[in-house]
Amino acid sequence: MDDTGRMKGRECAEQKDVWILAIESSCDETAAAVVKNGRTVLSNVISSQIDLHTIYGGVVPELASRKHIERINQVIQQALVEAGVGLDQITAIAVTCGPGLVGALLVGVSAAKALAFALKKPLIGVHHIEGHICANYIENKELKPPFICLVVSGGHSHLVNVKDYGEYEILGRTRDDAAGEAFDKVARAIGLGYPGGPKIDRISREGNPEAVHFPRARVGDSELDFSFSGLKSAVLNYLNSCTMQGKTICQADVAASFQKAVVDVLVEHSMHAVRKYGAKSFAIAGGVAANSHLREAMIAACREEKITFCSPSLVYCTDNAAMIGVAGYYEYMKGVRHGYDLNAVPGLKLGEKI
Ligand code: KG4
Ligand code: ZN
Repeated sequence: MDDTGRMKGRECAEQKDVWILAIESSCDETAAAVVKNGRTVLSNVISSQIDLHTIYGGVVPELASRKHIERINQVIQQALVEAGVGLDQITAIAVTCGPGLVGALLVGVSAAKALAFALKKPLIGVHHIEGHICANYIENKELKPPFICLVVSGGHSHLVNVKDYGEYEILGRTRDDAAGEAFDKVARAIGLGYPGGPKIDRISREGNPEAVHFPRARVGDSELDFSFSGLKSAVLNYLNSCTMQGKTICQADVAASFQKAVVDVLVEHSMHAVRKYGAKSFAIAGGVAANSHLREAMIAACREEKITFCSPSLVYCTDNAAMIGVAGYYEYMKGVRHGYDLNAVPGLKLGEKI
């Protein structure tokens, strides 16, 4: 190990099993996990702040940072205990360093740097979206690149060509709101509250998805990009016109119709990418990948295309540290090591050098 904390190549080559202690604190979950050899999750501790932010109708960044500080050590400790692993057994520390809320990210990055320094273990900064994609490796043992992945979370909507471990080509992205952001804003507008995605998912089961026709937004010059702000405005306009006409809205019908409009576009663009790039496997990732209608629609679409469909189970769709441990493992195996100057980068782009 040199004096910036970087491990020399031969030191890691001598290890047999690789045990990654992973930390995630980019938004409102304080999380730590221990992952063995990249695909076996030994522990996955998530301390959610949902109750704290619910009263404000969304995540309050400063409150999130303070809560992370209160909980981080306890969460890390619990992850080690549940995994039955001592700090001395850990091979490397992986941590989300972006994108996300800067104050929230800094808590995880500082904790990881302190541990790496004190233990003289390698430090690996991980891109949060790369983590979401890698969540698919946990339960789909046969999944290997290349494949196409739709990443849909509260902050991102990306269609990604996963060319190799750690090698990504962005095929499409949202031009405005992320899919999860649209779920959260529409949920608030129809009075369901925060967090919007799971609430829309649940209530939609009782609604008619054909009740209101909302637009399927397409971006003129790119068949793989997304746009959700027009759809959000269409829902708001519908709600306003109902109010003006004195009509009561049916929450379940509006939720189901909105959800179908989002899912239709996600499926159509994803399958377009699959055909265009001749993909044999397709995966979904991120918080919105927990949506039951999206999962069912993607399963059916992939069956029709005769390709393999992969998805993480629900706990690995929303933010967690196990996915960071998996991504950290593949970075570690490629020889990636970061110094103690690793910083939180709130606007970090996928594929950008950390
Ligand atoms: O990946 P994630 O936990 O955090 C970010 O990286 O943003 O995603 C959170 C997003 C939120 O917008 C939440 O409403 C959405 O995922 N979400 C869902 C569902 N569960 C979570 N959206 C639709 N249906 C769900 N079941
Ligand atoms: Zn996320």
